[in-house]
Amino acid sequence: MTSHLRRALVAGNWKMHTAYEEAVHLAREVATSCSDASDVEVVLIPPFPWIVTLAELVRGSMLSVGAQNCSVYERGAYTGEVAAFMLAPFCRYVIVGHSERRHLFGETDEIVAAKLARVFAHGMTPILCVGERLEEREAGQTLAVVERQLATAAASIDRSQAGRLVVAYEPVWAIGTGRPATAADAQEVARFIRGWLTERYGERAGRALRVLYGGSVTADNAGTFFSEPDIDGALVGGASLDAAQFCGIVGAARVVARAKKGA
Ligand code: PGA
Repeated sequence: MTSHLRRALVAGNWKMHTAYEEAVHLAREVATSCSDASDVEVVLIPPFPWIVTLAELVRGSMLSVGAQNCSVYERGAYTGEVAAFMLAPFCRYVIVGHSERRHLFGETDEIVAAKLARVFAHGMTPILCVGERLEEREAGQTLAVVERQLATAAASIDRSQAGRLVVAYEPVWAIGTGRPATAADAQEVARFIRGWLTERYGERAGRALRVLYGGSVTADNAGTFFSEPDIDGALVGGASLDAAQFCGIVGAARVVARAKKGA
């Protein structure tokens, strides 16, 4: 399956880090250092309160802004929630089903599916996170877990949306541990994800949708993941808080994107 049709995507998930000044400084640094990233889509995903400021700050640049989560509800009396429609004027992407949401905040596959539908309904692109825990990998259940997560999520979208979907394969044991998956293992699951969605939504959607790898990605190891045929980019946590590291990852994506294009 040719990968050069898909634009590489590198997204930095800042999680619950950065005070206001730090967020502005980091966004400025990334905007300056990653300015030559025409082959790669670069997305900053800050905490909610900084989204509006950052969206202003990156306007007219190569960067866009995303959100880490959204409410499962459309609108109403849901204290403390942030609705998808509120994010839509400022965000191109919304992460749904990050493993920290699933495991620390009890988000079920059904909740993730409902959020996915909300994000699409408001014209944004979901970054759907899937991935197994260590004990599931050790029990040989990796593909079964990913299939279950995909199947429930996919039930809430249609064929035209499937081609726009971004799926991030993030093995839970690799997140924030400094122990990334091997590129070969990540490719195996990325291929499975694309294959599964292709079977369900057809070749066209399967060729268009992007699959990212996430979990301890650094500027040093990023290139090995991007060289794999079914991996179109990365969802980056820790390394996205350092502009030099993050732009190193973007640079690796650019080099591979150009090589894939020429291939
Ligand atoms: P990490 O986080 O890069 O710090 O491992 C990845 C993620 O949670 O998306």
